[in-house]
Amino acid sequence: MHENTIQLTQTEFAKEIKEGLTAFPKYLSSKYFYDEKGDALFQKIMALPEYYLTNCEFEILSTYTKHLAELFSKDDSTFSLFELGAGDGKKTKILLKYLIDNNYNFDYRPIDISSNALSQLKSSINKEIPSVVVNPIQGTYFDTLKTIKDEQQNRKVILFLGSNIGNLLHKNAIAFLHQLRAAMHKKDLLLMGMDLKKNPQTVLDAYNDPTGVTAAFNKNILNRINSELGAKFDVEKFKHWEVYDPETGTAKSYLVSTCKQSIFIEELETVIEFEAWETIHTEISQKYDDQTVDWLAKASGFKVIADFCDSQSYFKNYIFQPL
Ligand SMILES: C[S@@+](CC[C@H](N)C(=O)[O-])C[C@H]1O[C@@H](n2cnc3c(N)ncnc32)[C@H](O)[C@@H]1O
Repeated sequence: MHENTIQLTQTEFAKEIKEGLTAFPKYLSSKYFYDEKGDALFQKIMALPEYYLTNCEFEILSTYTKHLAELFSKDDSTFSLFELGAGDGKKTKILLKYLIDNNYNFDYRPIDISSNALSQLKSSINKEIPSVVVNPIQGTYFDTLKTIKDEQQNRKVILFLGSNIGNLLHKNAIAFLHQLRAAMHKKDLLLMGMDLKKNPQTVLDAYNDPTGVTAAFNKNILNRINSELGAKFDVEKFKHWEVYDPETGTAKSYLVSTCKQSIFIEELETVIEFEAWETIHTEISQKYDDQTVDWLAKASGFKVIADFCDSQSYFKNYIFQPL
């Protein structure tokens, strides 16, 4: 990453943190959970027994690998495999290994806001599946749309796994998918991992583990503001809180201030005031059903051409094709 990219990102970070903490009610974007510490905490979350999402999607990708590979390379042509929010690529490696072992022609272009996640991913793939050509792209989903659009030669297959789309409320998800559609041709495909509505307790437990890893992950955003913007948050004075509305399928994470407090943020030259029990909304994890997915796809210029479910009916991977 070039130095001016870092500076630009830092300015954007400072601007968004100020906007969110001076708004009422306060909010922060979940994309800022992910620095080196946040990436490591998310890997711990994926290993928690309560966080069923990873195992379910792992099962789907392992069961239907051949079927998916055939869809990716329908006409035997070379394709570029983009991945939005690739993280540690644990599940993607199942596909990459199969594609290499079966002589498919492709390159892999993981996209992530976290440069740490991308460099770890590239070196682990180089070690585990050295024949994969990896071209990482650092940036947000929105920043990288142009790079996706610029690929004119190869068929594009875009992975959006882990129900990452669920971090966007429906209106924003449609706006994003609409722009993604504009960067795709009719022959391209989008593989979406989407977490399904289920027993509300199961959902709630996935974001509220008793060991406190999810709480530490949520609070990492305050640690980042401390280290990158010179703030003085005492994370012990904030409580992680999760709610789930089974009607809308929206799970929301909050940080709740346990007392009245004033926090000075040096880089922003601002004092943020918290009343006792005031909230900061930090994440949305939307849950879906087939009807909602069909609606989202149509509203953004796609149709669903296939779906694959795990054995517990907790999670689905949908194939979206441009209309
Ligand atoms: C919940 S993790 C999921 C990782 C992987 N897709 C999986 O299913 O295991 C989300 C990943 O997306 C990245 N991410 C989150 N918001 C992003 C954004 N707005 N733009 C780009 N990457 C983002 C994070 O850095 C992280 O690596």
